[in-house]
Amino acid sequence: MAVIIPVEVFDCIVFGATGDLTLRKLLPALYFRYRDGQVPDGSRIIGAARSELDDDAYRERARAALQRHIKPHELDDAVLSRFLDMVHYAQVNGARDEGWHNLTGLLEGEAERVRVFYLATSPELYGPTCDNLDSHGLITARSRVVLEKPIGHDLESARAINDAVGRVFREPQIFRIDHYLGKETVQNLLALRFANTIFERLWNSDVIDHVQISVGETVGVESRGPYYDQSGALRDMVQNHLLQLLCMVAMEPPIELVGDAVRDEKLKVLRALRPIAPHNISHTTVRGQYAAGAVGGHAVESYAHDLKAGGGRESSDTETFVALKVEVNSYRWAGVPFYLRTGKRLPEKVSEIVVQFRDVPFSLFPREAAELAPNRLIIRLQPEEGMRLGMMTKDPGPGGLRLRAAELAIGFEEAFSTRFPDAYERLLMDTVRGNPTLFMRRDEVEAAWSWVEPILQAWRDSPERPRPYAAGSWGPTAAIALIERDGRTWHEELG
Ligand code: BG6
Repeated sequence: MAVIIPVEVFDCIVFGATGDLTLRKLLPALYFRYRDGQVPDGSRIIGAARSELDDDAYRERARAALQRHIKPHELDDAVLSRFLDMVHYAQVNGARDEGWHNLTGLLEGEAERVRVFYLATSPELYGPTCDNLDSHGLITARSRVVLEKPIGHDLESARAINDAVGRVFREPQIFRIDHYLGKETVQNLLALRFANTIFERLWNSDVIDHVQISVGETVGVESRGPYYDQSGALRDMVQNHLLQLLCMVAMEPPIELVGDAVRDEKLKVLRALRPIAPHNISHTTVRGQYAAGAVGGHAVESYAHDLKAGGGRESSDTETFVALKVEVNSYRWAGVPFYLRTGKRLPEKVSEIVVQFRDVPFSLFPREAAELAPNRLIIRLQPEEGMRLGMMTKDPGPGGLRLRAAELAIGFEEAFSTRFPDAYERLLMDTVRGNPTLFMRRDEVEAAWSWVEPILQAWRDSPERPRPYAAGSWGPTAAIALIERDGRTWHEELG
């Protein structure tokens, strides 16, 4: 049984309270933390939005959302009604000076509590909302602000947002979410690397041949077309989630696991990424856009079709798939490529890190005994979280010495028979505790943009367009060529 340590009483004010993120992710996450005894009675969740609602009406929305997004056997009526008693509503326009007395009235006299301002809104509103929080005297010494991604769409806009928020909040009060860092298996990378002797000593270019990071999604752009079309897979997934995963694999051991130590090490990795220059863009990057195809046995339309159906433009050069060959210029990783790929409308929803070790230096075994497959560590982030280590073993039985590939495997759900909390549960409680370890610091976000920006620029300058790929495939064939040119292959189970 996991040990649950309650946090202290807090107020969490969620701007964008009627939006999808709040209803689909934040309220369910808070419900589970409450159900498990981590949120003390007396805490409040204050929805803040422009809609004309009162506490009761907002509670009804919250109830409907929880019933929709939580499995019936996990939703307990008595707990739900106690939880909803904690929920309040303030009609306020975050970006304008409208309705703020509704919020100040609720918060008056509670300045000693931890106050979490969660901005689940569009990033253009972060600066104005922070200014309003400040001018209405709501920022106390124990306040924090939580920012959702995207922090900008390039380096300049990221800096502008960080400057605006930084004018009223100090950096230690700013919690920039990358929800991948809240995933159990991503944190498990720390345990794998630093709580076991057998990996860390081998975690370098002497023994590791290359690393693959694949994040596949089956969904298309759905209703997010207008946002997504301005963004694309590189900004939406690589600049944040995939680079953060790469950092967790590649960073040096931090001196401790709290505060800035982990973030300092991740920053060094981001700064060590070899820049992708215009002359090697076509060798190190592949962009694709999904065409019509079939996913999970269902016919689906192309990106262009989905975009138009959502009110977007007729045709677009936005990439829905990207594959990259990335190098980390450091003593530990010189010569070890990191191959990254992510996309919409791929055959599976799956996130996986594959660490491919080198061949044994010399084979004692006759060729007919077996082809020796080099060791491969497969870390499954989602779904079916777990780890597998591919090894060569002796094929049992008498006769000659024949070898066979086998796996040491742990499936976490089976091994620990526990529920896997959603990333937001951990991250929300960390904001209340004031623990920034799993959040992105300003310099990390800006270092990631600095690396991504020249790729975006080179794509813009290139006459090539994203290559079409059939929905339900693992991207354009050029993505296979990207890795095969180096005599390697993508992890075969994923295609
Ligand atoms: C978000 C992206 O940050 O992550 C989405 O904006 C993407 O486009 C999502 O679908 C994927 O998250 P997860 O947790 O479902 O892998």
